[in-house]
Amino acid sequence: MKIIDGKKIANDIKEEIAQEVAAIREAGGKIPHLAAIIVGHDGASETYVGHKEKACNQVGFNSTVFRFEDDVAEDTLLRRVHDLNEDPEIDGFIVQLPMPKHISEQKIIEAIDPKKDVDGFHPINLGRMVIGLPAYISATPAGIMELIKRYNIETLGKDVVVIGRSNIVGKPMSILLGQKANPGNATVTMCHSRTKNLKEVVLRADIVVAALGRAEFLTADMVKEGATVIDVGITRVKSDKTKSGWKLLGDVKFDEVAEKAEYITPVPGGVGPMTIVSLLQNTLKASKGEIYPK
Ligand code: GUN
Repeated sequence: MKIIDGKKIANDIKEEIAQEVAAIREAGGKIPHLAAIIVGHDGASETYVGHKEKACNQVGFNSTVFRFEDDVAEDTLLRRVHDLNEDPEIDGFIVQLPMPKHISEQKIIEAIDPKKDVDGFHPINLGRMVIGLPAYISATPAGIMELIKRYNIETLGKDVVVIGRSNIVGKPMSILLGQKANPGNATVTMCHSRTKNLKEVVLRADIVVAALGRAEFLTADMVKEGATVIDVGITRVKSDKTKSGWKLLGDVKFDEVAEKAEYITPVPGGVGPMTIVSLLQNTLKASKGEIYPK
């Protein structure tokens, strides 16, 4: 069994990005600038946005966070989105989800200029990705593809099972692994809460992507010997063993599944660190006009 060390790969990539930013700075070019909009005081959202700011600092990007209270009007947020769309200093921005109930997340996402949508949530970016055009790919699937690439995990002709059909992870992951590309060219099955005989389906998989958001759902009896197991789950549970009082659990029962898997991602330290790095990579692409020429 080999552990896929997302933390190490993420640090390697951050180092590569930092070097590129240093060269841009030296040449007097524009420093990439990522902005984030956060609404309310959701603990997980605060943590994610904090991590994103820290990662920007580490690689030398500029970053700005716009904070709003829970009762902010949708119009106020839409105005901020329009301002960021028009601001030439901002290369890309994200709107941290979830939003409070009175705000339409879809309306906000669709108001983002696809050229600055470094989260890859806008239907234009999702649509372009589906038909194989250059697009911002949402950070978690992009990070998983990068791990598969850097660990030379063969996907061609392999049976892949993705568990979960979210717009952010399950759906894009299925498309990317089935695409005519390398990595890609896999035979993909997407499973969800209505899938019959889930265990039998997952047992056929050479590669399993667990992205359903249920702590320790995937057990050893569901996994084929020698499979690659990618764990996207991050459920926060109370713990009296950690300083923070919380610990993170993946969707995979790690200890028992690790005994059968050839490759496995841990939680924390697997997919999570890659998600943030992918956002940095997308921001760098935005600042260079790589996806949508300026
Ligand atoms: N909420 C949970 N994950 C994400 C993410 O990747 N981007 C945004 N904007 N919100 C999230």
